Amino acid sequence: MRVRPAGPLRGTVKVSGATKNSGLKQLAAALLASGVTHVRNLPRVRDLDVMLDVLRAVGATVQWTGDEELTIDTSGQLQPEAPYELVRQMRASINVLGPLLARCGEARVALPGGDNIGSRRLDMHFRGLEAMGAELTVEHGFVDARCNALCGARIVLEFPSVGATENLLTAAVLAKGETVIENAAREPEITDLTAFLNRMGAHVLGAGTSTITVEGVDELVAADTEIMGDRIEAGTFLMACGIAGGEINLTGVRLEHLEMVGVKLGDMGMRVSPTPDGIWAQAVEPLQAVDIATLPYPGFATDFMPMAVAALALSEGTGIVTENVFDNRLAFVEELARMGADIRREGRHAVVRGRPRLSGAPVRAFDVRAGAALALAGMKADGETVIDDWFHVERGYPNLVGALSTLGADITPA
Ligand code: UD1
Repeated sequence: MRVRPAGPLRGTVKVSGATKNSGLKQLAAALLASGVTHVRNLPRVRDLDVMLDVLRAVGATVQWTGDEELTIDTSGQLQPEAPYELVRQMRASINVLGPLLARCGEARVALPGGDNIGSRRLDMHFRGLEAMGAELTVEHGFVDARCNALCGARIVLEFPSVGATENLLTAAVLAKGETVIENAAREPEITDLTAFLNRMGAHVLGAGTSTITVEGVDELVAADTEIMGDRIEAGTFLMACGIAGGEINLTGVRLEHLEMVGVKLGDMGMRVSPTPDGIWAQAVEPLQAVDIATLPYPGFATDFMPMAVAALALSEGTGIVTENVFDNRLAFVEELARMGADIRREGRHAVVRGRPRLSGAPVRAFDVRAGAALALAGMKADGETVIDDWFHVERGYPNLVGALSTLGADITPA
């Protein structure tokens, strides 16, 4: 992707449905009931294609019914095995483990392996399922799980892991008795998933808080769902506006889902306000540097961090960034440095000294958000920034190029 300097940004864009961080999980959860689920506001991204292949591999039938909507039919016999060729392409495939185990009494899911943002363990997923009575063996690159019946349990997570909370929640809904998940992740996507589960007949209380209580039921029924707006995409647009200047309106998203981003951008000198159907933001002056530490929700989400580093690299002053969630997520700053950013990284910390402009260069997207961060930096970099491995960005953003172009950015395929 090629980015040239542009700005100020102006205009209105509709924020996409959160396919990657919410839609995929609800598709996996659809396996819990036999029947047809209609999913809306599910724009196509690469990771969706992988999840649909996983669902087909286990025996579901998927049919597109519109640009951003599809049905998934889980009435047939399921073969509860997710193969390595698919799982290796996308970690969220592991989200089928809980639903398959709960519905079929067994599941065999390939282990996803590492990726560019750090080691990503699954111990909390496994320990939680074992607490519910499942027997797990991890051998030959697969986890094999089986149980006669899952039983409710009290599970304390060592860290509020999003994926572990989702897997345990989607297993507990069909377990016998009560499950309590303590130190649960509080992300809005957990609340979105829970609303769907409850529409299927589950009894889940406390989503969005650190204690989730699930009263297991014998059976769920297929229900329809509409995926929430993508708060990460919205945050990306807000930071683009901060970097390039201007005034933008976002619809289809709630500021309360990215409140800490709003607070930080406010501290950096932007004006950010909720509107009845979205967010309004304005950046008139150059951004002022602030310190940022990533934390589980409602803290500053790690998924916003790469874009925040790009913004700090183009701010007045010095900001310190601490990445607390993934151990190698700051590696991408080397690419920003190729564009002249003044960043000193020590492990999980980076000291970012702002500059008025960067210098366009060929760079490489390390992961979905790092790629977006480079595109944002390119908007205030002299000359041309050409971003390689752009497919990473397409794993999570359905229309980043289209939306940024609508707002006035100069971003085109190289
Ligand atoms: C999800 C999101 C990702 C986001 C992340 C944190 C999706 C598809 N991905 O990823 O975009 O950045 O939440 O908000 O929704 N951990 C363990 N053991 C476990 C599970 C996790 O040690 O059993 C560690 C991980 O290595 C990581 C941290 O916990 O360091 C957070 O991971 P987690 O919240 O589980 O992230 P994901 O669900 O994989």
